[in-house]
Amino acid sequence: MEVLTRIALLRAALAERRRAGQRIAFVPTLGSLHSGHLGLVDMAHAHADAVVMSIFVNPLQFGPTEDFARYPRDPVGDVAKAASRAVDVVFTPPLEELYPPHAPTWPVRVVPLTDPARWDAAARPGHFDGVLTVVAKLFHIVQPDIAIFGQKDIQQVTMIRAMVKALDMPIELLIAPIARERDGLALSSRNAYLTPSDRQAALALSRALSQINRAWLAGTHDADALEARGRAVLDAVPAVQTEYLAVVEPERLEPVTHADAGAVAMVAARVGTTRLIDNIILGQDRW
Ligand code: PAJ
Repeated sequence: MEVLTRIALLRAALAERRRAGQRIAFVPTLGSLHSGHLGLVDMAHAHADAVVMSIFVNPLQFGPTEDFARYPRDPVGDVAKAASRAVDVVFTPPLEELYPPHAPTWPVRVVPLTDPARWDAAARPGHFDGVLTVVAKLFHIVQPDIAIFGQKDIQQVTMIRAMVKALDMPIELLIAPIARERDGLALSSRNAYLTPSDRQAALALSRALSQINRAWLAGTHDADALEARGRAVLDAVPAVQTEYLAVVEPERLEPVTHADAGAVAMVAARVGTTRLIDNIILGQDRW
C-alpha cells in the first residue's frame, strides 16, 4: 500500500495505474476509520482494480462552533486498517496541500436542492459548501472512475450526486448501506464522544427508524403516522434532543405525505454534546 501526502506524487502514481488499464475507485474519508468506512473499501474493490482512499479532516465543512479541533484523529491506526482491507493508495495531504495560503476559501458554493434549505443544510450553514469544495478538489486530483459514499450521510449523497450531474463530472457514484453495531447504532467516528449512558440513549435513533420501517412494512404509509411512531420512541428518552425526524422522497429529500417504497426516514438528534444522524430506506433496509 502506498501512503502519499502530495498531489503531484499521487497524480504520478495514478497515471501509471491508468496507463496499465486499471479502473480506479475512490473512497474519501475524514479518517478515524471504522468498519463502515471499510465496507466502502470492500464495495470499491468489487467494482474496480485499484482503490484510493483519502484521509483528510476538512476544516471547511466544520462550522465555527463545531468539533473540528477535537474531531477524532488516528493516523497510525487508519493506515493499518486501510492496509488490512488492501487499499492500494492512501492520500493523506497536510492542510496546506489542499488549501494553500491565500487560496479562495469556497470554490464550490451549494445552491440548496430544496427551498427552503432543509435538514443538515439548514442546521449546519456552510457545511455542504465545505463538503462539495473538498470532494470536487479530490475528484479533480484523483480522477476516479467510480467513487463510493455511505447512505449514512444521505443528504451528502444527494448533494454530491447533484454536483456530479451539474458539473458533468465523469464519475460513477456507488452508495454503500449503513454499517451498524449489533444493537442498531449506526457506526460513526463521532460515537467516540458518547459516554456509556449517552450511547444507550443514542439507540433511540435507530430504534425509532426501525419502528417506522416496521410500521411501513405492516401497511402504514401515511407520513404523519409514521413520524408520530418514530417521535414517540425518541421522546421517551429524555437525553435525546431531536432536531428533525422526517419521511422524505429519496432524490431531493423533500417531505412526502404518502411514503412509497424507497422513501427515506431520516433523523438528527443531540445526545449530550454529540450530534448524531441516521436514516432508513423504507421497505428496503431490513432491521
Ligand atoms: P466521513 O464521515 O469520514 O465518512 C466517509 C464516508 O464513509 C462517507 O461516504 C460516509 O457516508 C461513510 N460512512 C460513515 N459512516 C458510515 C456507516 N455507518 N455506514 C456506511 N458508510 C458510512 O463523509 C465524510 O467523511 C466527509 O464529508 C467527506 C465525504 C470525506 C468529505 O470531507
